[in-house]
Amino acid sequence: MFDLYQIVRPNILALKPYSSARDEFSGHASVYLDANENAYGSPLSQNYNRYPDPHQHVLKQKISAIKGMPVENIFLGNGSDEAIDILYRIFCRPGADNVIICPPTYGMYEVSANINDAAVRRVALLPSFELDVHEILCATDAQSRLLFICSPNNPTGNSLHKEDIEYLISRFPGVVVIDEAYINYSRQSGCISLLTEYPNVVVLQTFSKAWGLAGLRLGMAFASTAIIDLMDKVKPPYNVSENTQQLVSQALTHIDQVNEQIRSTVRERNALTQALSSLPIIQKVYPSDANFLLVKVTDAHAVYTHLASHGTIVRDRSKVEHCENCLRITIGTPEENQTLIAQLKAYSI
Ligand SMILES: Cc1ncc(COP(=O)(O)O)c(C=O)c1O
Repeated sequence: MFDLYQIVRPNILALKPYSSARDEFSGHASVYLDANENAYGSPLSQNYNRYPDPHQHVLKQKISAIKGMPVENIFLGNGSDEAIDILYRIFCRPGADNVIICPPTYGMYEVSANINDAAVRRVALLPSFELDVHEILCATDAQSRLLFICSPNNPTGNSLHKEDIEYLISRFPGVVVIDEAYINYSRQSGCISLLTEYPNVVVLQTFSKAWGLAGLRLGMAFASTAIIDLMDKVKPPYNVSENTQQLVSQALTHIDQVNEQIRSTVRERNALTQALSSLPIIQKVYPSDANFLLVKVTDAHAVYTHLASHGTIVRDRSKVEHCENCLRITIGTPEENQTLIAQLKAYSI
């Protein structure tokens, strides 16, 4: 029942994308006078006076080799936040279409909806933090364009049941966006393999978490070639800087170091879970598949203020659904985690 071209905004289907100087001449030349760049160079030692590759060929090939996904199925953006915004611009007619989100979840799905004037249908997770599959389908209608599923979910930390995700994919009339920002920390495998079976899936991943490159801004979307072509058509031509393309390419050669950091984070996640669970002010530490813990305390605001006054900042999530008196605590280094525990012990006294 899924027909991609029925749900793409007509203006996007008709869009003639910007053709950059680098698109019109992609061979090798010795004199480039085609892009109004500064021919005299940059104040930095690199060739930053030149526009970057709009198609990120070299970087995509390296990512393709690591992910086992063809280049044609990969979109790269200025963080996954850019991919989220582009999906809205492709699929949601402002003032007409709606999207479904499952709070508590990552805040940008709703902010991007508001920016793009898409109606938001909020179907809360069950108290177990699993998807309310039935209610999601009840909230879906012919104008439902995107369903956002975040797994492992921010801020709850759990991975969502894969059977639920697949059930929804097979019934949702629009595109199911599975945000796997925290997948490298998860015990459960990701959903990229579902792409071979379903045409209506976009999987988002990012270099901001396990790869430790939040400052460079690089997000990935994996999807059918038809969806990736639309995303490429809508993106600003030079959305990933030369600096980011070069540095992420370098980082990809350090995969062992990244895997070691993931193991350390998971070890610390277990240690912190145990240490927190023994404190009297901690009522519950929710199981986590991510690099943070959701923790229910006796008085979230008071604990937050106490920690902040001692120089430690955590995220107060107590205002969001099912998260009364909950703090979200990122896993730090062993020293940072010990500092946190010592400060919490001082509060308990
Ligand atoms: C679930 C989720 N998706 C996406 C992002 C943003 O990723 P990026 O830095 O690639 O824009 C975050 C950041 O916290 C997140 O929690």
